[in-house]
Amino acid sequence: MKITEQIKQPIELEMKLFEKKFQDAMTSQVALLNRITHYLVNSKGKQMRPMFLFLTAKMVANGEVNERTYRGASVIELIHTATLVHDDVVDDSNKRRGFFSINALWKNKIAVLVGDFLLSKGLLLSINNDDFDLLKIISVAVREMSEGELLQIEKARRLDITEDVYYEIIRQKTATLIAACCALGACAVKPEDTEMVERMRKFGELIGMAFQIKDDLFDYTDGPIGKPTGIDIKEQKMTLPLIYTLNNCSEADKKWLINSVKNHNKNKKRVNQVIEFVKQNGGLTYAEKVMVDFQQQALTLLEVFPTSPYKDALVLMVNYVIERKK
Ligand code: IPE
Ligand code: IPE
Ligand code: MG
Ligand code: MG
Repeated sequence: MKITEQIKQPIELEMKLFEKKFQDAMTSQVALLNRITHYLVNSKGKQMRPMFLFLTAKMVANGEVNERTYRGASVIELIHTATLVHDDVVDDSNKRRGFFSINALWKNKIAVLVGDFLLSKGLLLSINNDDFDLLKIISVAVREMSEGELLQIEKARRLDITEDVYYEIIRQKTATLIAACCALGACAVKPEDTEMVERMRKFGELIGMAFQIKDDLFDYTDGPIGKPTGIDIKEQKMTLPLIYTLNNCSEADKKWLINSVKNHNKNKKRVNQVIEFVKQNGGLTYAEKVMVDFQQQALTLLEVFPTSPYKDALVLMVNYVIERKK
């Protein structure tokens, strides 16, 4: 059995019901919006966030989930989808999940508005059901994701960006939403156990860090992962492999790297030379090591929970984050 099938097995029913609820949560009176949301539903992603959420809920509550869990999963996937629609505008990217991005098909204006629509639908789903404890967790994540994207714009083009700033960017833009998934999963079923909710939030944050490092590593490969690769350097976005290489090479090489990224970032051949240089100088190996470190820290936090099929699947999920092929 494939690892993803193994992970989904203990949450099969939940994921099936979730898909229907998620679709229903997107409907609108505006025909154009419905056309676009249909397109989004048909080009669905890996749905890792709802999987984290349901597995967490079932692990901490002996297999129990409730309506709050389902709403939490829909809110998270709505917000995730909204941020991807916006992200492709920000990154000027024309592919997503193997399909054309919304901005590629309908232009930026429409993509911005569709993202806002999905975000508001997510927040309303919580508000209309008085899930205010969940809404608080979600709103923190939404704020941090916007801050993370802006911090990235402010800092990630600087050639003197430090590893610590990189970690703060990815914590905010990516890890915070996965942290929210795991906190929500726990809070939806055991709101009174604040210590455990915090443990699962931290777990999600750590695995979220590993998740984004993996995503940044993909950019150094040649796919196929369903979205463009090699675009980070083109967009002058410094990620861990390059940051490490810049800080661990000779002055002359550093000058060449900086000049390449600054002045030749649209030149495919030169970008490929940079990628090759990063590979030769251990940039990918280093980033992989840091990724595994975060992953191991995440696993440690699960040790207190008794063995169960849900915990086993969550551990598989933690491994899938760093071993996935897309
Ligand atoms: C992509 O997330 C955005 C990042 C935070 C790197 P996913 O890789 O989970 O996207 P989908 O939903 O499966 O397409
Ligand atoms: C991830 O950012 C999207 C958000 C967290 C908002 P990236 O720009 O690095 O992700 P991909 O590679 O386009 O999915
Ligand atoms: Mg981006
Ligand atoms: Mg992007």
